[in-house]
Amino acid sequence: MRIDATHRGWAVASLVILAVCTLAYVAADSSAPGPPQGDSWLGLALGALGTAFIAFAALLGARRRALLLRLGPMSAWLRGHLWLGLLSLPVILLHGAFQFGGTLTTVLMCLLIAIVVSGVYGAILQHAMPRLITTAVPQETTYEQIERRLAEMRVQALAVVAEHCPPDTPEIAQFKQELSETLRLTGEEQPEFRKGPAVKVAADADEAAKAAAAEQTAAIEKGLAALLRFYGGQVAPFLRNCRSRRPALASAVRASIAFDAVRTDIHPGMEPALRTLEELCGEARQKARQIRLHRVLHGWLLLHIPLTTALLVLTAVHMVMALYY
Ligand code: HEM
Ligand code: HEM
Repeated sequence: MRIDATHRGWAVASLVILAVCTLAYVAADSSAPGPPQGDSWLGLALGALGTAFIAFAALLGARRRALLLRLGPMSAWLRGHLWLGLLSLPVILLHGAFQFGGTLTTVLMCLLIAIVVSGVYGAILQHAMPRLITTAVPQETTYEQIERRLAEMRVQALAVVAEHCPPDTPEIAQFKQELSETLRLTGEEQPEFRKGPAVKVAADADEAAKAAAAEQTAAIEKGLAALLRFYGGQVAPFLRNCRSRRPALASAVRASIAFDAVRTDIHPGMEPALRTLEELCGEARQKARQIRLHRVLHGWLLLHIPLTTALLVLTAVHMVMALYY
């Protein structure tokens, strides 16, 4: 979500609430010998208010899973989440009179601070996200579809190579096993295998024609060997694991050098196949970038969400302990 003018109302309301709480705290502080503690009337009111904001922020998870389907649009929930979540920290600081107290309350404060800091970090990332994604990943696929698209790409790559191979090519037999697993995922057809690289000559052709055909067959076989070596040694492993940065094909510059080197070894008839492989590797690099970006953009939630659960549980414990003991 972008932090824009639509946040103004929430920002102003949050500042007003914070100002009222601060004024009440300062007034109570100046009319008594010490600052209002968590168990004073004002302290309890501030604790309840801060807890309400925390609970509202935590309800975002339920709203996300559509449990609160009809209760307002998601954008309003997100704005409310950001501002009330943020506001919960100063309100709770006022509730505890800026003391962290014993072990339980100290743990509670550390959790709250970590949640708010990770949330602010995530909000800043999400604010910058549209620009980040469009510059880094022009051909964007939704994250859930990436694995499927990568599987499709593996089939496409094998299909363009297979077109040049006799069906009994050992390398192809080796790739077929992986292919059948991939095909199960994408539901696509098995690629067709050609009859083989041999150039056909009529039985009654003269010696020169037979020699020319044999020479051409040898050139095709040599080209095919180079193509298979490159496909089996570099392209297929890269398409299988494009997230690793180690393979040469993971870098656009090194990939371009590698493809140019193979281009000189293959038969000119295989050039379109090589071009397709090059395009597929380019797309795989983008998908890898999209996965990395997704992890950066959503990884912080791995902290934000479990800490929220811990905070909710310990707040309940704190409430019971503080009020009954
Ligand atoms: C409705 C919710 C809450 C109630 C009724 C409540 C109640 C109290 C009470 C009675 C005290 C004073 C006694 C004591 O120190 O244990 C207190 C102190 C404190 N509470 Fe809460 N609390 C609530 C929510 C929270 C939350 C959500 C946090 C933090 C995330 C928190 C953090 C603290 C801290 C840091 C102190 C100060 C401890 C000290 O100075 O020794 N409270 N609370
Ligand atoms: C006590 C405070 C907070 C609690 C309990 C809390 C809790 C949560 C929870 C449970 C989610 C996950 C929702 C889901 O399941 O998808 C979430 C997401 C998020 N939180 Fe918080 N949060 C708090 C404060 C903040 C703050 C202060 C910010 C930023 C200023 C923030 C920013 C975010 C963002 C950007 C998301 C992702 C929303 C999305 O899915 O697009 N949070 N938070």
